[in-house]
Amino acid sequence: MTIPTTDMTGKVAIVTGAASGIGRASARMFAEAGAQVLACDRSPGVAEVADDRITPMEMDAGREEDVLAAIARAEEIGGRLDVYFANAGITGGVRGTEEHTPEIWAEVLRVNLIGPFLAVKHAAPKMAEGGGGAIIATASVAGMRANAGPMAYSASKAGVINLVRNASYALAGTGVRINAICPGLIETEMTRPIYDYHRAVGGVPGIGGRVPLERGGEPEEIASVALFLASPMSSYMTGQAVPVCGGMSASHPFGPRPDPEEAARVIAKYRAEQGRP
Ligand SMILES: NC(=O)c1ccc[n+]([C@@H]2O[C@H](COP(=O)([O-])OP(=O)(O)OC[C@H]3O[C@@H](n4cnc5c(N)ncnc54)[C@H](O)[C@@H]3O)[C@@H](O)[C@H]2O)c1
Repeated sequence: MTIPTTDMTGKVAIVTGAASGIGRASARMFAEAGAQVLACDRSPGVAEVADDRITPMEMDAGREEDVLAAIARAEEIGGRLDVYFANAGITGGVRGTEEHTPEIWAEVLRVNLIGPFLAVKHAAPKMAEGGGGAIIATASVAGMRANAGPMAYSASKAGVINLVRNASYALAGTGVRINAICPGLIETEMTRPIYDYHRAVGGVPGIGGRVPLERGGEPEEIASVALFLASPMSSYMTGQAVPVCGGMSASHPFGPRPDPEEAARVIAKYRAEQGRP
């Protein structure tokens, strides 16, 4: 067997949410790996990622006409479509249930969940025509368990995980693989307030204190897994949701751990007070 690589020479990829964070890092990494990339975002700032192999496009990743237009543009650029990274996402900007409205829910689901569905609906057939391809969707550890994001956001990301599972069956026999990535806490515009807050109050306990790797992640650490899932390196993977979270999702919840000697002293004192050995 030839050892597969992440060389993307001759491939054409669409990346949504490419003006910032994970999407921007992925567009650059895919291009660096040799792909022609259509970098899509609803922000005009996407123009700044333009490069030899990166074409920017303003579009709304949750709008069907825009997804169709992006696919047409990608085919114009490279004559084919091999990869669609459905990465654009929003939090909805709210925390508490009392602040959630049906309108906020609808918008979060439209962008975060219907966006990736539109990739399945419209990009997969184009990829299949060319002999196959890879769809990657950005879910989140918030879609795996509670307490990592607002309610609508978390529900939308759980939906993404189940979308890729179901779509892998719907796409059976087409040569199109589909997987999700579940990032943990990654430093981007989306998490800027969390980082600013925790840096202001002392850093690591808030950002990396409950993560085995003891830090938050960089956008490039998600982009490299996206590249792996886009390439033949992952040729036997489909329908999976891959956590890339520094180990965050490996644990049951836990609180701050006391120093073992301090804990031993407290236990001994408590037992002495109870008259126990
Ligand atoms: N940063 C994290 O810790 C983290 C963790 C888990 C999952 N995620 C997910 O990663 C993905 C990327 O987020 P990020 O952290 O890079 O945030 P980011 O805010 O830096 O980038 C998101 C980009 O998506 C764009 N976007 C938003 N709605 C869009 C739409 N309808 N159409 C086109 N573009 C749109 C924004 O303009 C922005 O450029 C999101 O799906 C997010 O939910 C992020």
